[in-house]
Amino acid sequence: MNIAVLFGGPSAEHDVSCASALGVLRALTEGGHQVSAVGVTRDGGYRLVPDEVLEKLRDRRVARAIDDALEVTGPEVELRRGAAPRTLAIHADGAVLATCDVVFPVLHGPFGEDGVVQGVLEALGVPYVGCDIAASAVGMNKVAMKRAFVAEGVPVTPYVWFDRHTWRTAADPEALAAGLRRPLFVKPARMGSSIGITRVTDDDDLAAAVETALEHDRLVLIEQGVTAREIECGVLGGWEPAASVVGEVAVSGGWFDYQQKYFGDADPMTVPADLPEAVTDRVRELALAAFTAVGGWGLSRVDLLWDETAGELYVNELNTMPGFTAHSMYPKVWAASGIDYVSLVGRLVELAFE
Ligand code: DAL
Ligand code: MG
Repeated sequence: MNIAVLFGGPSAEHDVSCASALGVLRALTEGGHQVSAVGVTRDGGYRLVPDEVLEKLRDRRVARAIDDALEVTGPEVELRRGAAPRTLAIHADGAVLATCDVVFPVLHGPFGEDGVVQGVLEALGVPYVGCDIAASAVGMNKVAMKRAFVAEGVPVTPYVWFDRHTWRTAADPEALAAGLRRPLFVKPARMGSSIGITRVTDDDDLAAAVETALEHDRLVLIEQGVTAREIECGVLGGWEPAASVVGEVAVSGGWFDYQQKYFGDADPMTVPADLPEAVTDRVRELALAAFTAVGGWGLSRVDLLWDETAGELYVNELNTMPGFTAHSMYPKVWAASGIDYVSLVGRLVELAFE
């Protein structure tokens, strides 16, 4: 099959996407597919990565560090409908450079994971891997996501949300978080990789934390922090999605921030997580419920919090295009479930046609 892999993009997770794409491109190539790597520049232009750059994929190990990533490089191209139905043509200067049967958008964050690119691909009429417009949009918006979870009985931690206008015009803005126990997590509603998130233990720091979140979004969410273990579960499938083996992320400093996610020295992931069987079963059940609540398709990684003392599980969030380097949690939990990286990306491509 001819597969276009879209990566990079204008979001703050550009670099993460380049690292994920390196892994996906290698695996698709190993799986016998023809690939066209279409890099999206930080200003939203498309570039076709030349074959000589892709050649490097063959003899290069995917390193854990984010700086081992594919580069967005090559001639500027346009994405158009292909001559055959439901195909994509990659054009430059009026010539077709490649025709693809399916697109794998390995893009994280706003633009690539929030329904925007999914909408472009719908308009072009080409099948694509992963969640549709609506599920992507809900998955990217932590406010909409929590509402979807609550509506389906999926437990979430207490939270409040507001927009920039409400915050800036409130007589006592800090009172907005009055009902929540400290520490607080202040988050932009639509962002990933923990970018723009601050953990607040002292109320004197709250205003600055909200301003940081507002740099990324006009919607802000404040969550009540819980002392909990960070548990992650992969979901894969279409009409009958399956939940993976459960993983755990060891965090320091109270949460798993960008630095630890991509530049930490030690591998913080344990797969399978050491949890009582009843908790593991419940995690997998909640992961599937969360996926169904947003209307997911193809894949998602569901992140949960396990408060051992209280015996409570909460779904923190769902990521419709989780980090996908060979050392990321999503491929790891599936490898532990018996589906290796190459088979996993192959299955995801098949699901784009179901
Ligand atoms: N947003 C990052 C890529 C993740 O959830 O893994
Ligand atoms: Mg996320």
